[in-house]
Amino acid sequence: MTAPILRRLSELRALTTKWRRNGETIGVVPTMGALHQGHLSLVEAAKAGTDRVIVTIFVNPKQFNNPEDLAKYPRTEHEDAQKLAPYGVDVIYVPEPEQIYPQGFATNVSVTGLTDVMEGEFRPGHFDGVATVVAKLFLQTQADRAYFGEKDYQQLMIVRRMARDLDIPIEVIGCPTVREPSGLAMSSRNLRLSPDGLAIAANKHRIMQGIAQSLKAGTTFDTLAAKAETDLLAAGFTQVEYVQLRCAETLEPLIHASRPARLFAAAWADGVRLIDNIPV
Ligand code: PAJ
Repeated sequence: MTAPILRRLSELRALTTKWRRNGETIGVVPTMGALHQGHLSLVEAAKAGTDRVIVTIFVNPKQFNNPEDLAKYPRTEHEDAQKLAPYGVDVIYVPEPEQIYPQGFATNVSVTGLTDVMEGEFRPGHFDGVATVVAKLFLQTQADRAYFGEKDYQQLMIVRRMARDLDIPIEVIGCPTVREPSGLAMSSRNLRLSPDGLAIAANKHRIMQGIAQSLKAGTTFDTLAAKAETDLLAAGFTQVEYVQLRCAETLEPLIHASRPARLFAAAWADGVRLIDNIPV
C-alpha cells in the first residue's frame, strides 16, 4: 500500500502531535524526490531507528543557483510513492510551495564557515537555501531523528551545525553513500547522463580511490591534486571544479590524511555536474 501523501502543514501537525502524545519517536528523510536506492537506504535506516517515518519531497527553489537546473530537476511523485510502498513509511509530505514559503517569507538561515568552501564556493546561495528549508522541515515534522546521506557530506555537516546552533532538538544521522556496481554514486542527476556520459562518470570513483590509496601510502595531497584533475580530464570529464582533501569533522583543508579525512571532487561530464566524496 502506498503511504498517504500530505500537502499541508496542518494535516502533518495533526498526525505528529498525536504520535508525540503517544510517546512514539519520529524520523524524517528530507528529499527532493526522483528517489533511488540512495534515498531508500535512508528510509531503511529511519524505519530501523524510529517508530514513525516521514519522507518529505520538496524541490526547493531557494537552493538552486541555476534556474535551468531547477527547471530540469526530475519530478516523479507517482513513481516515488510506488518506490516507497514496500518500506511502510507512515507519511509522504509533499508540501505545497506556500506551506514552506508563505507570502512575505523573509527569513534566511545561513551557516557560516562550513559553507565558504567547495559546494558553497561553486554554488553561491545554495547552502542558505538548504539550511533554510531543512530548518523548516525539522520544525514542521517535529522529528527526533533526521537521516542524511554522506553523498552530500558538506550538506550533512552544515545541517548538523545548524540544528545544534538553533537548539532544534533533533539528531542528524549520516548514512553511507550507495553506489552503482560501477562505483558511480547514485544521484537523481545521473538520469540526465547519456550511456557515454555514464561510462565517463563511472571513472570518478576509481580515480578517487587511487588518490586515497596514494594518500594512505604517505604521498602528500599537493602532489596528487594535479594528477587527479589530469586523470579526470583524460577519462572524459569536461571540467573539474575541485578535488580537495579535508578534515572529516571541520572540513579544514589537509595535506596529509593525518586525521579522519575525506576526499571531495566536483566535475562535469556530459553536461551534468557530479559530486562525490570518500573517506580516507
Ligand atoms: P536529494 O538530493 O534528493 O537527497 C536527499 C537525501 O538523499 C540527502 O541526504 C542525500 O545526501 C541523500 N542521498 C542522495 N544520493 C545518495 C546516495 N547515493 N547514497 C546515500 N544517500 C544519498 O539533498 C537534498 O535532496 C536536498 O538538499 C534536501 C536535503 C532535501 C534539502 O532540500
